Amino acid sequence: MTNRASMAAMGSTVLFMVVSFTTSAADSPPAPPYTNHTVGGAAGWFFNSTSNSSVTNYSDWASTQNFFLGNYLIFNTDSSNTVMQTLNATTYALCNFTDDNGDDTTFYFDGGAGPKAGVTVPVALTEEGVSYFFSAADGGAQCLQGMRFRITVAHGRGLPPSLNQPPPPPFVEVAPPPPEIMLTPSISRGHMFHARAPLVVAIFVGILFLRSA
Ligand SMILES: *[C@@H]1O[C@H](CO)[C@@H](O)[C@H](O)[C@H]1NC(C)=O
Ligand SMILES: *[C@@H]1O[C@H](CO)[C@@H](O)[C@H](O)[C@H]1NC(C)=O
Ligand SMILES: *[C@@H]1O[C@H](CO)[C@@H](O)[C@H](O)[C@H]1NC(C)=O
Ligand SMILES: *[C@@H]1O[C@H](CO)[C@@H](O)[C@H](O)[C@H]1NC(C)=O
Ligand SMILES: *[C@@H]1O[C@H](CO)[C@@H](O)[C@H](O)[C@H]1NC(C)=O
Ligand SMILES: *[C@@H]1O[C@H](CO)[C@@H](O)[C@H](O)[C@H]1NC(C)=O
Repeated sequence: MTNRASMAAMGSTVLFMVVSFTTSAADSPPAPPYTNHTVGGAAGWFFNSTSNSSVTNYSDWASTQNFFLGNYLIFNTDSSNTVMQTLNATTYALCNFTDDNGDDTTFYFDGGAGPKAGVTVPVALTEEGVSYFFSAADGGAQCLQGMRFRITVAHGRGLPPSLNQPPPPPFVEVAPPPPEIMLTPSISRGHMFHARAPLVVAIFVGILFLRSA
């Protein structure tokens, strides 16, 4: 009885080991190949101003996709829309980047400035984690009426060498010309340092002279 019981225990231990080995092997399938995702599928990235809604439900579309580093989102659109990415959940919720500190929001396509039709805007996914996309056109109305979606980017194969560089610089409003340069305290400190430099050299040369003497 005792023998059979311990045999059974051993058997189940072996079975457990086999099962866990198989499971852990299945936990790490090969990372999927790099793919591109056409936003909204055939419907593209558009707003219907007659129905006052996006032409498709972009959140539903995003939920059908798996996003990985090195993939691209392909926005097929025109000049009546914009393509923006933000990492700031508040900006996304408000559809308003005015109070955003700017570091986390990127303009990929600035609608009105672009061609009227047939615009394709590729956006590389270069950061892991949650990211938000929206159209900022019509003063945020398009975004508030559904032209936005949230994605989560997984590691996958990581960034390919072609994208393995710092992310693009954030969108910055054109700044007014800088004011005339004035002599600030930090600049005068710089002058003081330079004024002392000959003294430092003199002491150094003096030490050398004493040593060799
Ligand atoms: C994805 O789109 C980018 C940018 O347009 C392109 O360079 C790349 O070849 C595309 N990759 C695939 C797998 O289609
Ligand atoms: C826009 O919405 C209107 C009203 O719902 C509809 O009749 C029209 O077909 C839509 N246009 C496009 C391009 O989807
Ligand atoms: C679109 O719908 C929103 C929310 O219902 C409304 O505030 C806005 O005035 C509508 N815009 C147009 C152009 O109908
Ligand atoms: C996100 O944006 C809001 C306003 O849209 C701003 O108050 C906040 O500081 C931003 N957060 C970060 C981390 O930039
Ligand atoms: C965006 O936020 C700014 C600052 O809070 C505000 O002045 C502006 O009216 C907002 N824009 C819209 C379209 O709500
Ligand atoms: C998209 O569909 C989801 C349900 O799948 C719904 O909760 C959401 O409100 C829809 N978004 C828009 C903008 O209609």
